[in-house]
Amino acid sequence: MASPRHRGSPQDLNTCLPRILLLLALLVTSAHGIVSSLEECLVLRSAEGSTVSCYSVPRFPSPLPDDTVHLSVEFSNLTELPPRALQTCKRLRELHLSSNRLRELPQQLLAPVRGLQVLDLTHNELRGLPPELFHYSAALRTLVLRDNQLQDARVTWLWGLRSLEHLDLAKNRLRALPRGFLISLTYLSTLDLGHNLLETLPHGLLLGPSRLQRLHLEGNRLRRLGLGTFGPQPFLRVLFLNDNQLTEVVDSTFWNLRELDMLDLSNNSLSSIPPRLFASLGRPARDMQDGFDLSHNPWVCNEDLRDLYRWLQDNKHKMFSKNDTRCAGPEALKGRRLLDVVDLESL
Ligand SMILES: *[C@@H]1O[C@H](CO)[C@@H](O)[C@H](O)[C@H]1NC(C)=O
Ligand SMILES: *[C@@H]1O[C@H](CO)[C@@H](O)[C@H](O)[C@H]1NC(C)=O
Ligand SMILES: *[C@@H]1O[C@H](CO)[C@@H](O)[C@H](O)[C@H]1NC(C)=O
Repeated sequence: MASPRHRGSPQDLNTCLPRILLLLALLVTSAHGIVSSLEECLVLRSAEGSTVSCYSVPRFPSPLPDDTVHLSVEFSNLTELPPRALQTCKRLRELHLSSNRLRELPQQLLAPVRGLQVLDLTHNELRGLPPELFHYSAALRTLVLRDNQLQDARVTWLWGLRSLEHLDLAKNRLRALPRGFLISLTYLSTLDLGHNLLETLPHGLLLGPSRLQRLHLEGNRLRRLGLGTFGPQPFLRVLFLNDNQLTEVVDSTFWNLRELDMLDLSNNSLSSIPPRLFASLGRPARDMQDGFDLSHNPWVCNEDLRDLYRWLQDNKHKMFSKNDTRCAGPEALKGRRLLDVVDLESL
């Protein structure tokens, strides 16, 4: 027999009825994807947990469902986040905060969400990151900080990101990176540092990651690459060095890149390159199958390029921007396409 506490009576029903009606009302509205406490957001519930999507909202949504696994608060011009914004959603896996105006992040923001896998902060106004932001982010795999105002990178910024595979820092104002910046990012496979103000790369920058596949360094102010810069990355497939100010590339620069599919050196200040620089590129495994670009460099077409001509001869079917790869000197060959000089050489 049920105890009196559990036995229904007319009085119980009276107190229960409003709650039942409320629950019903909630069910009906959530069937339309809207829950009253988050009326500015779209809430979709599934067996895995809730997905909450908020666009153009005046404030950070609260309270969030305890089972939120995916949260987007985007295009909302938010300038700050409450320090305990994520306190209730311990199961959060993806957090998308792009296109706001966040200037800084609370240091403890991510402490409650230890299973977070994706964090997207594209197009905000971040100038820096608090030192222990990622202390609890051992599960984070994708971190996008593209299009912010990050400068003065600190070695502590990325501490704790033991599982990170994809790091996007493009379109910031980074002038330099501290030594050891990437040291704990063992599993990093994509690194985008494009369109910053980098003039040099610190010695040993790529010593931490051991399986980098895509590296973007385009649109910086790099003049030279230190010895052994890419040495630790035998699995690199794609390398963007275009739109820099490289004047010189030493002969060991690419020696270890046997898996390379694509190299972009266009729009630099290269007039010559050492013999055999390209000889081992992508060899024997990949053979630069996705092509290479040497255009918009002031090539001086003399004997020093003989090795490059020979290599181009064998690989011209993979060459991009052939028409924009021209000699800047000597005078007699000025304006000629490198490929035509290659043909002259072979006569
Ligand atoms: C955010 O700011 C932009 C630019 O000022 C404006 O066009 C947009 O309407 C704003 N959005 C919201 C949700 O306030
Ligand atoms: C070369 O790079 C500079 C600096 O990034 C850029 O402003 C310019 O438009 C580029 N030129 C070409 C031809 O791509
Ligand atoms: C190659 O470049 C020259 C000079 O810049 C230009 O006149 C010509 O149209 C280009 N040809 C092609 C096929 O793009």
